[in-house]
Amino acid sequence: MHAAKIYTVPQQLPLQAAPILKWAGGKTQLLPILEQNFPEALLSGQVDTYIEPFVGGAALFFHLASHYDIKKAYLFDINPELILLYNTLKLHPDALIRHLDSIEKQFLPLDDSKRRDFFEAVRNHYNTTRQENSETAHPLRAAQTIFLNRTCFNGLFRVNSRGGFNVPFGRYTNPRILFEDKLRAASAALQIADIRLADFSLVGDIANRNTFIYYDPPYRPISQTAQFTAYSKEAFDDKEQRRLSTLYRAIHARGASQLLSNSDPTNYINDPFFDVLYEGFSILRVDASRRINSKATSRGVVREILIKNYA
Ligand SMILES: C[S@@+](CC[C@H](N)C(=O)[O-])C[C@H]1O[C@@H](n2cnc3c(N)ncnc32)[C@H](O)[C@@H]1O
Repeated sequence: MHAAKIYTVPQQLPLQAAPILKWAGGKTQLLPILEQNFPEALLSGQVDTYIEPFVGGAALFFHLASHYDIKKAYLFDINPELILLYNTLKLHPDALIRHLDSIEKQFLPLDDSKRRDFFEAVRNHYNTTRQENSETAHPLRAAQTIFLNRTCFNGLFRVNSRGGFNVPFGRYTNPRILFEDKLRAASAALQIADIRLADFSLVGDIANRNTFIYYDPPYRPISQTAQFTAYSKEAFDDKEQRRLSTLYRAIHARGASQLLSNSDPTNYINDPFFDVLYEGFSILRVDASRRINSKATSRGVVREILIKNYA
């Protein structure tokens, strides 16, 4: 008879880093499909630098930082609040946690109508103290971004034409505002990251054959009602999609591994927009469910596209 094998289980597994914000177009649900399409250069350890130029909620960065041996990451976005938050989380996690603790202690004991007043007061302070394009670490402001994101309607981050946060209060029975373990795991992951308020074209200064780049730009709207493009004041239109494809081709020539996702215009009509822009690269169509949509009834499974410049 064989002796029973004894497996030891670590008492406390470290929490894996995951997105801190709910973000339109967040890629947590698509992670398994993205992972099936990672480049061989990443799996074999040739890649030492990861670049995510449309970082948003950073789902893929946090996943890679927890599971792969990435030495350096560059994270860009043109949304200053997002960059301010990640810089704060990287450099001042304790101060951020203290502010969130204080906000949670003030907010949770309130009744529904007082919670709404509290939310509106925070949003008002947030909008009136906003400094144009300031991405420098700021623990109170970063805490307010998290608070607004967790208590606003649908967890959106949406700004008006003047750049003010304009999402109304959302009623949640018991929203969690402070989640310390998750913040600490994200902060640890961000230590390898260079986080910048920058346009995606900055990738051109960094990419080489040891980099893996994941582009997740604002999706090209596939129908009028499916539009969600208000991450920032600037629109991401077809001209921007073309500018991105030009960069993709230039960087391909430098030997970097590139993966890009977008909506699939052929969901509804025969519109080969991306097939033309990315001709010559590997274009895959995958099923994905969308969570943020203006009409609840149109949430469902739709095809998205992945474009790889490797086999
Ligand atoms: C689809 S979201 C990215 C979602 C992200 N992958 C996640 O998992 O949450 C697109 C992001 O691109 C940013 N963005 C829009 N235009 C940009 C530009 N020109 N350069 C860099 N980032 C931009 C938006 O602010 C938004 O955060």
